[in-house]
Amino acid sequence: MSAQSPVPQKRITAPEITARKGREPIVSLTSYHAHTAAIADPFVDLLLVGDSLGMVMHGYESTVPVPLDLMIMHGRAVVRGARRALVVVDMPFGSYEESPAVAFHNAARVMKETGCGAIKLEGGRRMAETIRFLVERGVPVMAHIGLTPQSINVLGGFKTQGRVRDEWAAIEEDAKAVSEAGAFSVVLEALAEELARRITAAIPIPTIGIGASAGCDGQILVMEDMLGLSPRVPKFVKEFGKVGEAIREAISAYAVEVRNRTFPAPEHTYAMKDAGPPAAKAKGKAKTGA
Ligand code: KIV
Repeated sequence: MSAQSPVPQKRITAPEITARKGREPIVSLTSYHAHTAAIADPFVDLLLVGDSLGMVMHGYESTVPVPLDLMIMHGRAVVRGARRALVVVDMPFGSYEESPAVAFHNAARVMKETGCGAIKLEGGRRMAETIRFLVERGVPVMAHIGLTPQSINVLGGFKTQGRVRDEWAAIEEDAKAVSEAGAFSVVLEALAEELARRITAAIPIPTIGIGASAGCDGQILVMEDMLGLSPRVPKFVKEFGKVGEAIREAISAYAVEVRNRTFPAPEHTYAMKDAGPPAAKAKGKAKTGA
């Protein structure tokens, strides 16, 4: 390796994320492309190429239509952009539910073709057998319970879970099942705080909350939401930036300058390397026959 080559950075692994439980909060964000992955990488432990990219980047109404190839394409970009964070790629709806063998076939594609360190899939008890099958065959799995957006058509909407005690037992069983099956962590989405705290205390793997209170072992948000780039955000999102506003201001200033011809200015313009006017140069060339 030459002296100028960057020192290869060791990526955080799925077992390292598991080992953080009870030690330090796990900082996670979604990322869908190389540039934002590179910006976020020094600050986060885990980057999730979430299937929310279908809604955020591609304008779908839900995550249901997202194809596996799209996840692989964005997964590759994020792996190229990030050097340190564990990159987890979401398995989209229809790519893993049918059987453990189908799940393995598609998860292996995701891992080989993106270079990611783990995959995520939605579902609790119903996915436990698949999680065990994948983990035994070398695929680290992040589980996702509570509000599972891929089941939106069964749930009837993006509804907070566990706000009535009657719902608790089923969700707690889901958490225990994915943990016992070998998931290295579990996303708790849109859960009442008391339930999220109970689950976090009850299982040995880290809980990563999104709308599930500070009682979780770590947090995740959709990057565009926390940057202030999304047109609408759920109650649990804090906008840490005003990127949407900054983009609007920049584009409106650009439009004004193009229309009044102040952009491009001389400093944005290429001058000729030789000073003579083009016509004189052409004449000279004709005279010498060059
Ligand atoms: O797809 C996604 O972005 C997710 C997070 C919200 C956890 O699953």
